[in-house]
Amino acid sequence: MNVLITGASGGLGTAVVQAFLDTGASTIFGVARSWPVGSAASDRFHPVEADLGTASECERVAKLVGPVDALVHLLGGFTGGKPVSDTSDSDWQAMLDLNLTAAFHMFRAALPALRKSGKGKIIAVGSKAAMEPMANYSAYGVSKAALVALIKTIALEEKDHGITANIVLPSIIDTPINRKAMPKADFSAWVTPQSIANLLVWLAGPQSADLNGAVIPIYGRA
Ligand SMILES: NC(=O)c1ccc[n+]([C@@H]2O[C@H](COP(=O)([O-])OP(=O)(O)OC[C@H]3O[C@@H](n4cnc5c(N)ncnc54)[C@H](OP(=O)(O)O)[C@@H]3O)[C@@H](O)[C@H]2O)c1
Repeated sequence: MNVLITGASGGLGTAVVQAFLDTGASTIFGVARSWPVGSAASDRFHPVEADLGTASECERVAKLVGPVDALVHLLGGFTGGKPVSDTSDSDWQAMLDLNLTAAFHMFRAALPALRKSGKGKIIAVGSKAAMEPMANYSAYGVSKAALVALIKTIALEEKDHGITANIVLPSIIDTPINRKAMPKADFSAWVTPQSIANLLVWLAGPQSADLNGAVIPIYGRA
């Protein structure tokens, strides 16, 4: 299996890359804006440097990696923390750009190669906030809700090309950054990167062939 993973160096991405290595994927391309020298811990892992904030960079990455069986789109992030009344245009736009438009550009660029696979899979990571909006998280929640709509649309459009598209929605992930930001929280309630990675590996494999357009919560106890 050849896999393209975006957001591959992040708190979640590191565990996801390792899980795909452990499962025996033959080639794993991991995208981030920058990778430290020596990031290729395995000859099956290929770090790719690209800023996926533009359509042209997404197209360059798709061309560079060639035929892939699965696109695991982890790219995303969070800005906000203010009510709608105080949300700036730039914070609003930043969330839509990072969580939605980059996904649209990456999916569009990857679809021709995924069609060639005959069993291509798109797997995206959204957020619990997509389904259960939270006060002060409007731009984030809206961008992730729209990502769900995008995935469900692709699932309908591409099913006759053998492509499936599914999305998982984590609550708070137990990453070092979150532990630092919320030192008094109950970390045991959070969902671990390994737990999400295991689900993503299963979704990328043949066992999930009949699952399409699924929106899968993975909340732990958070
Ligand atoms: N952390 C949580 O609690 C949580 C909860 C629910 C959902 N999620 C979702 O889970 C996903 C992964 O989260 P995470 O915590 O692993 O995030 P993270 O630690 O911030 O990692 C983000 C990853 O994306 C890359 N990246 C950021 N901007 C980029 C750009 N413009 N072009 C290319 N790569 C870029 C980063 O590498 P560079 O900086 O080198 O580019 C990094 O590899 C996201 O979609 C997030 O919204 C996270």
